[in-house]
Amino acid sequence: MSKNVTISDIQQAKVEGRKLVMLTAYDYPFGLLADQAEIDMVLVGDSLGMVVMGMDGTVKVTMEHMIHHIKAVVRGCKGPLVIGDMPFMSYNTSIREAIHNAGRLMKEGGCDAIKLEGGLNFVPTVAAIVKAGIPVQGHIGLTPQTASALGGFKMQGKDAAAAKEIIDDAAGLEDAGVFSIVLEAVPAPLGKMISEAVRVPIIGIGAGPDVDGQVLVTHDMIGLFDKFVPKFVKQYTQIRTIILDAMLAYKKDVQAVDFPGPEHSFKMSAETLTQLKKMTD
Ligand code: KIV
Repeated sequence: MSKNVTISDIQQAKVEGRKLVMLTAYDYPFGLLADQAEIDMVLVGDSLGMVVMGMDGTVKVTMEHMIHHIKAVVRGCKGPLVIGDMPFMSYNTSIREAIHNAGRLMKEGGCDAIKLEGGLNFVPTVAAIVKAGIPVQGHIGLTPQTASALGGFKMQGKDAAAAKEIIDDAAGLEDAGVFSIVLEAVPAPLGKMISEAVRVPIIGIGAGPDVDGQVLVTHDMIGLFDKFVPKFVKQYTQIRTIILDAMLAYKKDVQAVDFPGPEHSFKMSAETLTQLKKMTD
């Protein structure tokens, strides 16, 4: 990808009615692929804890994990806007700490913007990070870091009062200066209402079609992570099966000495071989 997607490109897309495309990546090869696919925004999500590190949830992901993986993605991902996810408790204890950690993701990791989970409660934090010069993407609805407090990985905004709270969260984040908002696991009509209520792009994940763009966890979308597949995920391939078949075929070849063949082996001249044999006899 030759062009570099900017924050104003993301905001302009909503004005022009162009749907935004966002995916996650956690390493260099996937960063390169997202770049080649000309994805608008690439999130180095803390979902990395689950889909790459095999954790049960995202709460154990640290700043060091995030910086390590953001660096790898940024090396491959030159065109898309790269967003680094703030891990649990990196922005929850104080505004000072939040600014410090957001700055680390950008300075040490090299991402273009950060994302953090939370609505009205985090408005002062978001406003302070934005004021420090760091672009922030909000994340409301289902917020995986606090999923247990929300009753598990469930749809949010079920009744009118709960739905209104999410609308208020979006409005509060917009006032705090976010450049866009991820909206997760809410009824499709609520997604539409929120997208119409705010000027910043709403990027849905399980928020229906009438929002300003979509994001999926890449490892869910390509069938690489199969512990559970949320209802809102469309699987475009079953890459896990393709990789597994390749591993089994390799194992069979090695055991049968069908690999390596002559085309995978380095040659030695007959003369050198004779000399070597003399030297070792
Ligand atoms: O961590 C992540 O991958 C996310 C997406 C679900 C948006 O926050």
